[in-house]
Amino acid sequence: MGSCQQLSFSHKRLEGKVAIITGGASGIGERAVRLFWSHGAKVIIADIQDALGQAICDQLKDPQHVAYVHCDVSEEEDVRKAVDLAVEKFGRLDIMYNNAGVIDLAGTTSILTLEKEVLERTLRVNLVGAFLGTKHAARVMVPLRIKGCILFTGSATASIACMTEHAYVASKRGILGLAQNVAAELGRYGIRVNCVSPYAVATNITKAAGVVTDDEAAELESFMSDAGNLKGAVLKPEDVARAALFLASDEAGYVSGLNLVVDGGFSISNPSVTMKLSQLDESTTLRH
Ligand SMILES: NC(=O)c1ccc[n+]([C@@H]2O[C@H](COP(=O)([O-])OP(=O)(O)OC[C@H]3O[C@@H](n4cnc5c(N)ncnc54)[C@H](O)[C@@H]3O)[C@@H](O)[C@H]2O)c1
Repeated sequence: MGSCQQLSFSHKRLEGKVAIITGGASGIGERAVRLFWSHGAKVIIADIQDALGQAICDQLKDPQHVAYVHCDVSEEEDVRKAVDLAVEKFGRLDIMYNNAGVIDLAGTTSILTLEKEVLERTLRVNLVGAFLGTKHAARVMVPLRIKGCILFTGSATASIACMTEHAYVASKRGILGLAQNVAAELGRYGIRVNCVSPYAVATNITKAAGVVTDDEAAELESFMSDAGNLKGAVLKPEDVARAALFLASDEAGYVSGLNLVVDGGFSISNPSVTMKLSQLDESTTLRH
């Protein structure tokens, strides 16, 4: 008994809370839906993949706690309706998880040939979508005096350059700036605003990079694991969802303005230096 038990977090960590998870029909969002729900949250899945979103609801068989709404995050009316649905159906909104995102690798990784439309399309979903989710969540949290939590899925690409194409990186860096600025504004209402920023995870979004079959996904995971800093570990959507769960829960009650990077230390290490140092070690060893 005593202190160990008091520190145990095995209880339902989101009991009584209401969450909207955009992009909740697939990948990281889907894992977050299931995890948040299993921790007692009432969850609205907001996505454009209606069949997938509805299938999760059908599988969980818990209409009192889970609902799907069609919501294109780049459309303000869709976002407004999703937020209003949370309040009408579940009475409040505690957690807005702006997770929906896209990447367009059909274009190019060169600034010389990047089409303006690709940049605009990416920003519209990733950045404008995150902005709309935040604005409408604050619209209900502030007057209802809900000390809520606004979360974003950023990306390790917002911390380290040359991992992927420009439009996506610009959108994710934009999200980080938005999150921290909004954290500064909404702190006075007790609303916490944070980012979860993963390294590469094999999900449907990586299909844009041609990773389609299970074997290809396993290959990507193995490649990223080898390229990563933390050896012997593979990043899964569940790991990202767990970081989001922490930030959404009262355990992170004094955490705001944070970019929680889930990348096994990738973005703080510099592989070129490591490589050069190991070459130096080798040549020194050879000379002795
Ligand atoms: N997978 C990775 O390697 C990785 C790495 C860093 C960050 N992320 C970010 O994680 C988030 C989730 O992506 P994922 O990896 O789970 O991919 P995913 O493709 O499995 O999930 C993305 C979800 O967003 C939805 N979506 C796309 N456009 C939308 C729109 N306009 N309105 C509403 N929903 C929309 C999709 O339907 C899908 O369900 C994204 O923001 C992505 O940028 C992913």
